[in-house]
Amino acid sequence: MLLLKSIRVHYDKREAVKGIGLKVAEGDFVVIIGPNGAGKTSILNVISGVVNPSDGEVWFRSERIDGLPPEKVAARGIIHVPEARRIFPRLTVIENLEMGAYLQKDKTKAKRELERIFHLFPILKERIRQRGENLSGGEQQMLAIGRGLMAGPTLLLIDEPSLGLSPLVTQHLAGQMTQINREGIAILLVEQNARMGLKLANHGYVLTNGELVLEGTTAELVENEEIRKAYLGL
Ligand SMILES: Nc1ncnc2c1ncn2[C@@H]1O[C@H](COP(=O)(O)OP(=O)(O)OP(=O)(O)O)[C@@H](O)[C@H]1O
Ligand SMILES: [Mg+2]
Repeated sequence: MLLLKSIRVHYDKREAVKGIGLKVAEGDFVVIIGPNGAGKTSILNVISGVVNPSDGEVWFRSERIDGLPPEKVAARGIIHVPEARRIFPRLTVIENLEMGAYLQKDKTKAKRELERIFHLFPILKERIRQRGENLSGGEQQMLAIGRGLMAGPTLLLIDEPSLGLSPLVTQHLAGQMTQINREGIAILLVEQNARMGLKLANHGYVLTNGELVLEGTTAELVENEEIRKAYLGL
């Protein structure tokens, strides 16, 4: 479905991503883990067209998409739920969700999608008329993902959803992401919470300082000595 070939990202002269290859199959759940500044967000930004790679290629369903503007990438079904859950604070829950449906011309489909989102995140239905800024961190994250779903994605890019959330809320969110994936949407997740990321995904990449240091099924990765020491505290 998605293929990255030798992606490099430079910010001025500094190389932040140093030739990364990565794959997501249809319906897959893939995680990228790694410490601060490893280049995780940069990779998602390259895929969604927010950042132009200085080298390498991005392929989606057999078409090259690097260099396309973000709205064209989104129109192909790749939706980015960015770091720090950038919802619209002054807009209500329903208004935020409707903003996500701007690509969706089919109103009946948008309505069905809304029902699905409320089924997945019942708290959003309860808070439908509240402003985004009045939601808790966990609710804002659910709203950010819900807004992404309103665009009808086939691939969701989700950046650090668990950041700043309590273990209980994180656990909720993990279940909801699993559910989204089970409904057929591929997910590429970026997480500093390696424990959660490796539990949810079926395939994982470990990124350090702009380079891939390990890759494998998550079953393999959780058994890996280095991962157990450096990321799982075992
Ligand atoms: N717009 C930018 N301009 C300059 N440098 C940047 C920019 N965005 C990221 N960087 C640098 O590139 C490197 C990789 O950043 P990136 O945000 O991709 O890492 P990350 O793995 O997502 O980190 P974090 O865990 O902190 O979110 C970092 O050293 C960062 O300071
Ligand atoms: Mg980041």
